[in-house]
Amino acid sequence: MNSPPPLLLPPPISKSLLNIILQINLSGIIILSLTDTSNLININRMEKTLVILKPCTIQRGLIGEIISRFERKGLKLAGMKMAWLTDEILSEHYAHLKEKPFFQRIKDAMSVCPVIVCCWEGVDAIHVVRQLAGATNGRNAQPGTIRGDYSMSVQENIVHASDSPETAITELKRFFSDDELFDYKMNNLLAIYANDEF
Ligand code: TYD
Repeated sequence: MNSPPPLLLPPPISKSLLNIILQINLSGIIILSLTDTSNLININRMEKTLVILKPCTIQRGLIGEIISRFERKGLKLAGMKMAWLTDEILSEHYAHLKEKPFFQRIKDAMSVCPVIVCCWEGVDAIHVVRQLAGATNGRNAQPGTIRGDYSMSVQENIVHASDSPETAITELKRFFSDDELFDYKMNNLLAIYANDEF
């Protein structure tokens, strides 16, 4: 991943969040221990997720409109490129649907023309982006969601969005190399989140 040059200063103490924990063991003796709990209470909830603007979105001239939905929500763009997806990469991407009768149909639809592949970053970004996308079937998706506002179809449903943290990691690796994802500072974070939310 593209990162800024290493800082000369040490990271702030709060990052390592050391906590004193009182424990009482079986014989009733109080034990005082100094424990790093940063991984337990999840101080950094920033996530990255994959979004693909499908060929229907490109064909309908909706690229700017859909990108702006994610931007206006407050998500940060960490990577974006145009790519023409091959049957091979689509077979991998839609492997969970390989037994379905529409497997080849969705792969064909996804390779009608190039797509836009993006990585969006934010607190709980995977869940937030799925909520913004809406239900798979555009006809059932809630108005206000991307699919609810722009789609009349199950297949031609504007965007793909990763559905879990595990999937997001796998899918980002599938579509982006490390140097295509960018780690940079947004100056508006305190206008988007409270200071203890990110
Ligand atoms: P899926 O992973 O189930 O949904 P989502 O995109 O909401 O995560 O399905 C992947 C894509 O396959 C979906 O976006 C559109 C297409 N699809 C169909 O064409 N018909 C169907 O019945 C289903 C379930 C999906």
